[in-house]
Parts: sequence; C-alpha cells; structure tokens
Amino acid sequence: MWTRWNPDGSTAIVTGASSGVGYQFCRLVTSKGCRVVAVARRADKLEQLLHDCPKGSVRLVPGDITLGQTCDSAIQTVQDWSGDQLDLLVNNAGIGAIGPFIDASPDRLRRIMEVNFFAATEWTRRCLPSLLRGQNPVVCHVGSVLGHCGVPNKSEYCASKFALHGWHDAICAELRGTVLRSTLVSPSTTRSEFFDSLIDSDPAQRSVSVGSWPPEKVARAMFHAIVRRRREVVCSVGGKALVWADRIFPGITHRILSRTSK
Ligand SMILES: NC(=O)c1ccc[n+]([C@@H]2O[C@H](COP(=O)([O-])OP(=O)(O)OC[C@H]3O[C@@H](n4cnc5c(N)ncnc54)[C@H](OP(=O)(O)O)[C@@H]3O)[C@@H](O)[C@H]2O)c1
Repeated sequence: MWTRWNPDGSTAIVTGASSGVGYQFCRLVTSKGCRVVAVARRADKLEQLLHDCPKGSVRLVPGDITLGQTCDSAIQTVQDWSGDQLDLLVNNAGIGAIGPFIDASPDRLRRIMEVNFFAATEWTRRCLPSLLRGQNPVVCHVGSVLGHCGVPNKSEYCASKFALHGWHDAICAELRGTVLRSTLVSPSTTRSEFFDSLIDSDPAQRSVSVGSWPPEKVARAMFHAIVRRRREVVCSVGGKALVWADRIFPGITHRILSRTSK
C-alpha cells in the first residue's frame, strides 16, 4: 500500500542542522508539527533553532557525527521524548574540498568519507531498530548531483556521494517488505555555508556551477520527497541536465567538464 510520511506528531533526527539545508529543513518540519532532534558541532548555531522553531519542537545534540557517542546521545534523546519510536532520520551533514587529487593529502579523502559516507551508514545502522518502530518511517540521505556524475577537482567529494548513492540503492532493495523507505535527495549547487568550510583546499580554487538554489528551496524539495517516500530526487533543472548528459553522452560531458575546470 502507498502511504505517506506525516510530519504531524512525528519524531525526526536531522544531522547538519546548524546551517544551510539542515537548518531550513528543521524550520520547515517543525512548523508542520514534527519534533526534531537537531545535531551538529556548533552549539551556538544550533541554539538559533530554539528561536526559529515552535516552542518545544526542537532538542539539541551538539557533537561530531563521526563519534559514536553523538549518535548514542541523539538516540537517547529520541527515547526520552517519544519512547523509542523514530519516524525520520535525515543524514544531511556534509563537508567538501576543492582541488586536484594529486595535490591532496590522504587525510582529505578519509575525512570526507568519514562524514559524508561512514557517518551516514552508521547512523542508519544504529537508528534502524527505532525507525522500524516508526510511523511510515523514512531514512533520507542528502547526496549530490556529484554522486551521479564525477567532476574534476572534487574527486573525494564525488567518491563520498557516489558511495552514498550506491549504498542507498542496495539498502532500498534490502528494505523491501519492511515499513521503512530510503530516500536519496541530490541537490546541485546550494547557496549555503558549504563553500566557506571546505577542508584542505586552496582558497583561490572556485566551484563552477550552472545556477544555484537557496537552502530553503532544497529543504522544500527534500520535504516533498520524504512525504511521498520517494526513492530518489535530483534537484534543479541544471542538476537533472548534468545527470542525464552524463548518462547519455558521457564522453562529451566529461570533455566539457574538464575544460570548465581549467
Ligand atoms: N552546498 C552545496 O552546493 C551542496 C550541493 C549538493 C549537495 N550538498 C549537500 O547538502 C548537505 C548540506 O550541506 P549545506 O549546503 O547545507 O552546507 P552547510 O551549510 O555547510 O551545512 C553542513 C552541515 O553539516 C554539519 N557538519 C559538517 N561536519 C560535521 C560533523 N563532523 N559532525 C556534525 N555535523 C557536521 C555542519 O555543522 P557544524 O559545522 O556545526 O558541525 C552543518 O550544519 C551536505 O551533505 C552537502 O554535501 C551541498
């Protein structure tokens, strides 16, 4: 039976809730009656949510998502709040870097994989028992169009988002026959703090993109994908065009991409 996720009365965990897409998503779902456990490292930024969301709708768990204790605290907060029923997990936190692979330290790839891929898989693993007790539950992963099409100078980021995409595809098949659905949302360039917090990157390096969305718009697209329990959504016309061009004309697409990166 096709059933929708209903924000009203639901409980959610959102990682990367201190800025950008995660912050706006928390504002949106709490305005529709959802209770949110908001996770990120910057406690001062998270506290802003207490002013921007309806009273009592947000609980904060400041911490690094790559540490097991942060995930334990988030799950404990859900248990205290809703008796161990989790209706939504949003694996949104992410980091990136710009610059050629050959110039980067091995640490750059490991750090990006830890946050963008391993943390998402571990949070899903640990939240599964609570999610399986949820009401039409959803685990939503924020990927990227760069998880569909590899571009130069962002090899580590592309690798992390491709890994997330492949893992999500496999998990979707494994979850058939359970109440839980996995949703992958793939934004293209978003006007958030993302490019201010690039790791191990030359500040002179720039990101080339066609059009960009504000984080509020990405949050709305995510919300609609989650409510409909969609398997996959690629945001923006430019994002869709890149994904399809890469599938249909991979040679031409890669030639154009390598020219624009010079
Ligand atoms: N911006 C883009 O152009 C773009 C395009 C496609 C996809 N995306 C994806 O969209 C998602 C949201 O990014 P955004 O654009 O909203 O960027 P953002 O404003 O930089 O938000 C990233 C969030 O992740 C959190 N975070 C990073 N590392 C963390 C860690 N180790 N532990 C806990 N939290 C951590 C940050 O919080 P703290 O620093 O407070 O920890 C912040 O709340 C990411 O997965 C990103 O890859 C972004």
